[in-house]
Amino acid sequence: MTTDLAAFARGLPKAELHVHLEGTLEPELKFQLAARNGIALPEKTVAEVKQTYKFHDLTSFLQVYYPAMRVLQQAQDFHDLAFDYLTRAHADGVRHAEMFFDPQAHTGRGVAFDTVITGYHSAVVRARRELGISAELILCFLRDHSAEYAMATLMEALPYRDRIIGVGLDSDERGNPPRKFADVFARARGEGFLLTMHCDIDQPDSIEHIRQALEEIEVDRIDHGTNIVEDDRLVELAKSKGIGLTCCPVSNSFVTEQMKSAELSALLDRGLTVTVNSDDPAYFGAYAADNYVALARHAGLGIEQLVTLAENSFRAAWLSKARLDGFLAEIHDYVAARP
Ligand code: ADE
Ligand code: ZN
Repeated sequence: MTTDLAAFARGLPKAELHVHLEGTLEPELKFQLAARNGIALPEKTVAEVKQTYKFHDLTSFLQVYYPAMRVLQQAQDFHDLAFDYLTRAHADGVRHAEMFFDPQAHTGRGVAFDTVITGYHSAVVRARRELGISAELILCFLRDHSAEYAMATLMEALPYRDRIIGVGLDSDERGNPPRKFADVFARARGEGFLLTMHCDIDQPDSIEHIRQALEEIEVDRIDHGTNIVEDDRLVELAKSKGIGLTCCPVSNSFVTEQMKSAELSALLDRGLTVTVNSDDPAYFGAYAADNYVALARHAGLGIEQLVTLAENSFRAAWLSKARLDGFLAEIHDYVAARP
């Protein structure tokens, strides 16, 4: 990896489609919010916080992830979290971000839905105005809770429909298949939301979950979904439906033993709309461009493939044709201006 390729990756116009806002909580902001809200933290330094970042799978990550959120209390806290992320993303060449948030992780501890959405939405508006970056919010249901609770959360979201582009499904996948939420996703579709869901890496039923997401839920996109490489029929089905995969190489290397670069590269070669994203960048230490660079290094990708990944990120995004064409033209101009 030459510095040139890293600089090229950073400046390359791209969309980020798989980032959890709660996963962008950097230790420095965590301390600020704790102080502002009078919350005592067991860790006293950034180094001590990072000491707790020891993950070997999705479950061990989630055990660190959820407790950290208690510093988020007021709308201003949610605003600061999202605006800090959008500022970093903007510096990383991100022109458009579709960002997950987990309302149940907040309403479940007594923070009102309105507080969460007001804070996040105000950051979206401010980032558009001050940074020129466009952003959307995707409401994720926690799949390790009941379908009834997810449905109640969807009902709570309906008055804010114009601030939320779609719904997703995250958290612990074991024993929590897409099918469990079929009614919730059908209702969300009927209410005009776009649909995505996590099919995490190397889960006990990864292939069956990908199949359910594609054939039963009929999602518009899949988050992760890299195990699809094991099933030719599903690869062809996803291709024929034009389904994008929002892959997260550095995250993969934290929750499994590998980045899955060979699998991602194979899917790219097979013509799937593979995209590269950060997932939980504050925890995995890598924002959008870092993920492009890491994948390029591990899979031996060159400039041409990085450009395809960036184009894919806009093709898989929930954009109008006119905006898609505008972003693809930006990539074209960026590449043409390269010395
Ligand atoms: N919540 C935050 N990050 C997640 C991930 N990678 N998978 C499932 N749930 C998550
Ligand atoms: Zn994720």
